[in-house]
Amino acid sequence: MVYLEQKPTANKKLSKKINMRTKVLSAEKGFKRAVSLIKKGDIVVFPTETVYGIGADAFNEKAVKKIFEAKGRPQDNPLIVHVSSPDKVKGIASSVPEEFYLLAAKFMPGPLTVVLPKSLSLPDVVTAGGKTVAIRIPASDYARKLIEASCPLAAPSANRSKHVSPTSARHVYDDLQGRVKLILDGGECDVGIESTVLDLTTDIPTILRPGAITAEMIADALGQVSSNGNVIGVAKSPGMKYTHYAPKVPAVVAYDLDKAIAEYNHVRSKGEKPVLIMLEDAHANVGGRNFISLGSTLEEYMHNLYASLREAEKQYTYIIMQGFESKEGVAVSLMNRVLKAAGGKTL
Ligand code: TXA
Ligand code: MG
Repeated sequence: MVYLEQKPTANKKLSKKINMRTKVLSAEKGFKRAVSLIKKGDIVVFPTETVYGIGADAFNEKAVKKIFEAKGRPQDNPLIVHVSSPDKVKGIASSVPEEFYLLAAKFMPGPLTVVLPKSLSLPDVVTAGGKTVAIRIPASDYARKLIEASCPLAAPSANRSKHVSPTSARHVYDDLQGRVKLILDGGECDVGIESTVLDLTTDIPTILRPGAITAEMIADALGQVSSNGNVIGVAKSPGMKYTHYAPKVPAVVAYDLDKAIAEYNHVRSKGEKPVLIMLEDAHANVGGRNFISLGSTLEEYMHNLYASLREAEKQYTYIIMQGFESKEGVAVSLMNRVLKAAGGKTL
């Protein structure tokens, strides 16, 4: 399927990079084409259980550079290498500690990325020149089959840099049409937020980005983990210093409904078109104001968060998101993304 044809631009070199024909094929139908594109050194978008990724042969420097171009990603932000099974990690990392195997037994394949010392054979462009490498085994069968049939894939989330991560092929198309030849459509991502990133090169394993595999789950597997629930500004995960996951219109987090409604009325009186993004149980109490429901549970909130932000930025000019207390578990990971989307702004 092709959603739209591209119009050529005057600049020929640029035109080639941003005006290619973008095909969206089901993950089954597009499989062979995806394998062949990757083997030829091109980039392909593929589904994972967390968010969609834009992948290239991790050992092909030129191919990996295309990812940075397509996303508009800063060169100093390293990529995750996706492999198909724990035994494949040896070719990517120079040493693999026992902790890795303890985690692998419990959480892999799954939404957990581990940072290990980098193998010299891996091109520096993948790790942005750093001596460590982030590695993950995706739970999505589509992703693992693609890796098995081609090679380890260096892949960030398949959004334009600084935008919200994509959880459907349509989201990817909205961001990357014309910039990538093939998007494999595997339906909606199950989890909905990016993987937990855990650094195993520190004395105590350290969570650099919270995700669906929580601090409690990791501590249970390893005995200890360092997590302050707030990784913003931690330079060891360079990506965290950028305003990630942000919608295109301003967003704030409201910790109580009265404040949310007061803010809604206030910005509306100034000519904004606001929307409340909240769990369904608030719906009956907002008096017919614009409302996007996140479902009824924290898991549903996580699954729907990015899609709701993308929907909201298309129709409204101001987003008010529901915040909640988060001391442990998946609530910490979810509030991390909600606050990032709002650039830390709370009511
Ligand atoms: O769920 C996910 O992790 C998705 C799917 C596609 O696998 N990928 C993803 O990639 O979210 P990306 O590039 O959007 O986010 C990776 C994060 C960035 O914040 C990056 O800075 C950090 O991981 N990272 C990558 N390599 C690292 C390293 N060697 N040390 C510390 N942080 C690293
Ligand atoms: Mg990303």
